[in-house]
Amino acid sequence: MIGIKVNASGYIALVQGVAVTWSHRAELSGAAEKLIRGRRATRAFRPEPVPEETMRAIFSLAGAAPSNSNAQPWRVEVVSGAPRDRLAAALRAAHAARRTSVDLPYSDDMYSPTQRKRRAAFGSQLYGALGIGLDDHAARAAYDAESLGFYGAPHVAFLFVSEQDNPRLAADVGGYMQTLLLAMSAYGVASCPQGLLSFYADEIRAELGVTGGKLLVGISFGYADTIARVNRVNTGRAALEETTTFHG
Ligand SMILES: Cc1cc2nc3c(=O)[nH]c(=O)nc-3n(C[C@H](O)[C@H](O)[C@H](O)COP(=O)(O)O)c2cc1C
Repeated sequence: MIGIKVNASGYIALVQGVAVTWSHRAELSGAAEKLIRGRRATRAFRPEPVPEETMRAIFSLAGAAPSNSNAQPWRVEVVSGAPRDRLAAALRAAHAARRTSVDLPYSDDMYSPTQRKRRAAFGSQLYGALGIGLDDHAARAAYDAESLGFYGAPHVAFLFVSEQDNPRLAADVGGYMQTLLLAMSAYGVASCPQGLLSFYADEIRAELGVTGGKLLVGISFGYADTIARVNRVNTGRAALEETTTFHG
């Protein structure tokens, strides 16, 4: 229930029963800007684990994500400690044996020419920060293989689309993912969504004893290594007019 009242000191907005002055509102939108723009894909982590209590708070908060008819079609597997280490070894072995398995098909062809340009710009930023030449395909492949160790993060969460692989359900799980990433940021926890991990779906299911569901993405998380140069990559975004049209 939202109502707006006017009094001598100016507007007072009543948002779900809580009085919010305009200055308070500016403070809230400033905090939202900081949280949303402050989240970055982090590719180097410190080894210390996130306390269990913090993890529970983060994943409970992520569960507040919206979904079509509130169906919540996600299944989340959070991996830490010895199982995390075993999984990293299994993924590296699968990679070395060229044993991949994807639940939701991927193709570079799905990107438009404009999107390809954006991807290339990001690639040159990332590999530039790593000191890897754009044409050094061997070094890039080695870096990708290395990333199967979750960039050194002490934890990884796997998001499965429960039961079916209908893309509409993946949209709900995508919404959950962003809510989770922001919840992590709010608790000072850094993250990197890694689509690459979803190329090893069978390995991940086998290691974790998971049956059913389609693996959408893995998210490595923990505390950021703030000294690592790779964590200073600052990606831009397309101009508003390129992606958004306001009608009416
Ligand atoms: C679904 C998804 C899959 C991604 N897969 C990878 C990945 O496999 N490896 C990686 O290093 N980053 C991956 N990223 C991170 C993106 O590269 C990153 O979000 C993007 O470049 C924008 O940068 P920012 O997150 O720092 O704003 C992925 C992000 C998303 C949302």
